[in-house]
Amino acid sequence: MKNSFHPLLAALLLATGLHAQAQQPPRLELCASCHGPQGNSQIPQFPSLAGQPRIFMENQLVLIREGLRDIPPMKGVLDGLDDAALIELAKYYAAQTPAPMPGAVDAARYQRGKELAATSLCGSCHLPDYKGRDQIPRLAGQHETFLREVMLEYRDKPGPGRDTVMTNALRGFSNAQLDDMAHFLAHFGKQP
Ligand code: HEC
Ligand code: HEC
Repeated sequence: MKNSFHPLLAALLLATGLHAQAQQPPRLELCASCHGPQGNSQIPQFPSLAGQPRIFMENQLVLIREGLRDIPPMKGVLDGLDDAALIELAKYYAAQTPAPMPGAVDAARYQRGKELAATSLCGSCHLPDYKGRDQIPRLAGQHETFLREVMLEYRDKPGPGRDTVMTNALRGFSNAQLDDMAHFLAHFGKQP
């Protein structure tokens, strides 16, 4: 008996929930109401977070918390969370598996988007499989609507806190070309 836990003490420790709190990042249910279960968003305007590089998300979460990247629906959502909590959230979502994007693939748009992305060297930063790395986001399997809107924003009215590297990368693209790239990236790998 000397070195083992008393069963009552073990039960008490479990009941305090300390163990569960240490494993679960904060506010996951709130995040899931917009970003979906395990970070697979069910809302086309809201980005999926599953499989996003951890460093990209850590950076964005700090920018969003500090109000440097302005996301009206996320106002107040990160208030009171310290850096360690943001790192926990980023780690959790980076470890989730992205679900394949539902919906039909248009072969002509997929092909046009693929060629545009290839000739524009998007993969030199986002990687040839568009999974992203470090501070560069995953694009493969992201919602087409979100991708289109975020690219229009980078091209036409990049807000504060957004990297000018992307404004430069998208300069001169037509709306139709951005649409095709969004379609290709959302359905990446589902070669028609
Ligand atoms: C009320 C809805 C809502 C809630 C709740 C919410 N988000 Fe968001 N979040 C958004 C929207 C919308 C965007 C994208 C805004 C844009 O760029 O247009 C976003 C963007 C992000 C991004 C940047 C993703 C990217 O690809 O650019 C991260 C990271 C993020 N949210 C994490 C979280 C976390 C973690 C939580 C929970 C603590 C959370 N969000 C709660 C709506 C929400
Ligand atoms: C020089 C490196 C570089 C190149 C080239 C580049 N990107 Fe990016 N891209 C980035 C970085 C870094 C970010 C994150 C920007 C930020 O923090 O605002 C980003 C963000 C994005 C986002 C936002 C995704 C999200 O979840 O928030 C999209 C969409 C995107 N890039 C598409 C493209 C496309 C399409 C091309 C090719 C036409 C391209 N990028 C070329 C570095 C690059």
